[in-house]
Amino acid sequence: MTGKFPEGFLWGGAVAANQIEGGFGFGGKGISTADVATAGAVDKKREYTDGIVEGIYYPSHEAIDFYHRYKEDIKLLSEMGFKCFRTSIAWSRIFPKGDEAVPNEEGLQFYDAVFDECLKYNIEPVVTISHYEMPYHLVTQYGAWRNRKLIAFYINFCKVIFERYQNKVKYWMTFNEINVIAYQSFIAAGIKLETGERKEEVIYQAAHHQFIASAKAVALGHEINPDFKIGCMLLYPLTYPMTCNPEDVLLANEAMNKNYYFSDVQVRGAYPNFMKKYFERNNINITMEAGDAEILKQGTVDYVGFSYYMSLVASSDKEKGGDAAGGNMVRGGANPYLETSEWGWQIDSVGLRIALNNLYDRYQIPLFIVENGLGAIDKVEEDGSIQDDYRIEYLRHHIMEMKKAVIIDGVELMGYTPWGCIDLISAGTGEMKKRYGFVYVDKDNAGNGSLKRYKKKSFHWYQKVIASNGEDL
Ligand code: BG6
Repeated sequence: MTGKFPEGFLWGGAVAANQIEGGFGFGGKGISTADVATAGAVDKKREYTDGIVEGIYYPSHEAIDFYHRYKEDIKLLSEMGFKCFRTSIAWSRIFPKGDEAVPNEEGLQFYDAVFDECLKYNIEPVVTISHYEMPYHLVTQYGAWRNRKLIAFYINFCKVIFERYQNKVKYWMTFNEINVIAYQSFIAAGIKLETGERKEEVIYQAAHHQFIASAKAVALGHEINPDFKIGCMLLYPLTYPMTCNPEDVLLANEAMNKNYYFSDVQVRGAYPNFMKKYFERNNINITMEAGDAEILKQGTVDYVGFSYYMSLVASSDKEKGGDAAGGNMVRGGANPYLETSEWGWQIDSVGLRIALNNLYDRYQIPLFIVENGLGAIDKVEEDGSIQDDYRIEYLRHHIMEMKKAVIIDGVELMGYTPWGCIDLISAGTGEMKKRYGFVYVDKDNAGNGSLKRYKKKSFHWYQKVIASNGEDL
């Protein structure tokens, strides 16, 4: 294969504030929805308690203590040659309750320091505005994203951070994996569904609020700094038909449409017909205000950010479909051609090339792979080394397919930020032992450990990948 990744390709890594920072109770931070999430496991769901309950271990409260160790961590990322670093801003550090008029200066200063540290090493910050957390007060007081008032609070938050960091941050994303609201409504939107509620109506109404908030944020961001690149962020659960039975193909298409619905609205600025018809058929009524259609049109995104970890299968045969295979926030049918990770996620590097082609064909705007990676158990050898060849294999194959998509298929790709570049708390399970990083953090599931950082074998490998702009894999 001849050809290279474009000059300026954004190699880096990704994390989220609530999964790394800790710093609970520091710097005037308020309680967030992530702060009430307990620890779970592959077979034990995380719970979301009503407020903080004494005696319960909450993994986000300390996480990997990036709040106090960001200098050391960013230095390590710079050693790998990172061109960019994707993180998020904890809304509850800036507005502890979410509905205040005046932001918390100490919280703003923390991100000033983090972004300055990145820029010192020529690392471009890529910022997710809302990554699976929001001030908990917005849940108890307003019902979170059920309530249209959230749009104003979110925009207030955006205005403050856009203005404050306009000369430090160029790349933004409005909501992490916005489609996850349909699968995990508390994580994505602070919504606990009550028994007897019309689930879909609640969810799609909340999604509408997020769409309007996102569109308004894009318009506002461009007004504040026309150089801003503001993207959407979609979880991409590539779904294959189990067979060439047209019924299976149709099912797989339908499964994907439920996800494309979110990016369609954010990229094209209007609801797709298949979803309007779905709402009609199922008697789902979304309350929209006059002017909403215009807001969506005016606030389309500059690029599509997406996460890709695995693929799933849809089958019209009940026995073969189902949810045997796991994934980040979603489940689906098992694929006999693929191996799985220790957490049951199907490893499919070719699927990444398919995903890139599908998304680029559909939208024709730049793409950004903002999450990809293998969650695995790492062993620290006696000499302190971590031989994570399985992670290198996973990433190598995915990068090879990404390269084919760019060089052979002509997909416009801005960058690649593998997930959890430094070990962090798993969003799905709250575990620490599910590790994605190039950097190992000494901490276990119960919260014990020195928090010391160690370079894994993959650290040195990824360093070479970046230095050679993806040539030396
Ligand atoms: C994505 C999320 O869905 O998957 C991340 O954006 C999350 O926050 C990642 O950590 C991996 O999932 P998990 O459950 O292994 O942490």
